[in-house]
Amino acid sequence: MIIVIDGPAGAGKSTTAKEIARRAGLDYVDSGAMYRGFTYLYLKHGKDRSRLAGLLDDHGLRFEFHSTEARVFHGEMEITSDIRSDIVNSHVSEVAAMEEVRNAVRLLLRDASANGNAVLEGRDLGTVVFPDADYKFFLTADPEARARRRYDERIRKGEQVSLQQVRENVDTRDRIDSSRDIAPLKKADDAVEIESTSLTFEEQVTRILQHIRSTPTETQPNNSDQLKQ
Ligand code: CDP
Repeated sequence: MIIVIDGPAGAGKSTTAKEIARRAGLDYVDSGAMYRGFTYLYLKHGKDRSRLAGLLDDHGLRFEFHSTEARVFHGEMEITSDIRSDIVNSHVSEVAAMEEVRNAVRLLLRDASANGNAVLEGRDLGTVVFPDADYKFFLTADPEARARRRYDERIRKGEQVSLQQVRENVDTRDRIDSSRDIAPLKKADDAVEIESTSLTFEEQVTRILQHIRSTPTETQPNNSDQLKQ
């Protein structure tokens, strides 16, 4: 079963996707971590797009997706926290708009879900990367709620950041991600939209699971059997 969850920054895609993956016994894949990994390389190589093009063939990045976090390695070095730094936050949308980067991530996503059993989260998964996914969701919430959630998350991790700084980054990324020419952030016509501003995490997860259970597809006739309560 392939389930995709798209939506803007801070909508709760990661936590939701991990929980769905856990309950359905599927792999969890974070496409944003891949764009962040390439952004890390781009910054490391002096923001030189011509050098990035070479690195895409032999990038040396490795992604490990766990139920608690997405771990990223560059060669032997773990860069899991580096890909969430302010500098990566401020450049990731610019790098994610580059066609060669999108092509590289699309291949990585195909590999990561080759067994046909995954929950993947991103921006263009339902529209471009997995147009035939079994289930598509578009998770959203108002910008203030999304910035607040992301701020709380970073404060919990012990980071020094202001709500205004987080809100500005969320707004800027939303704007660039939604307006770029290639694979913009957009709800797929056949995706189920979940507006989560006033939903609890559990309610959000329950809505997704209920939709899956009540919508068997040709390829997933026994979908309920796979979903633990
Ligand atoms: O966690 P958050 O939603 O804030 O961001 P993320 O999923 O880690 O994605 C970081 C950035 O990668 C986004 O702002 C997009 O610019 C880009 N991205 C994308 O273009 N397409 C995807 N499928 C996933 C992420």
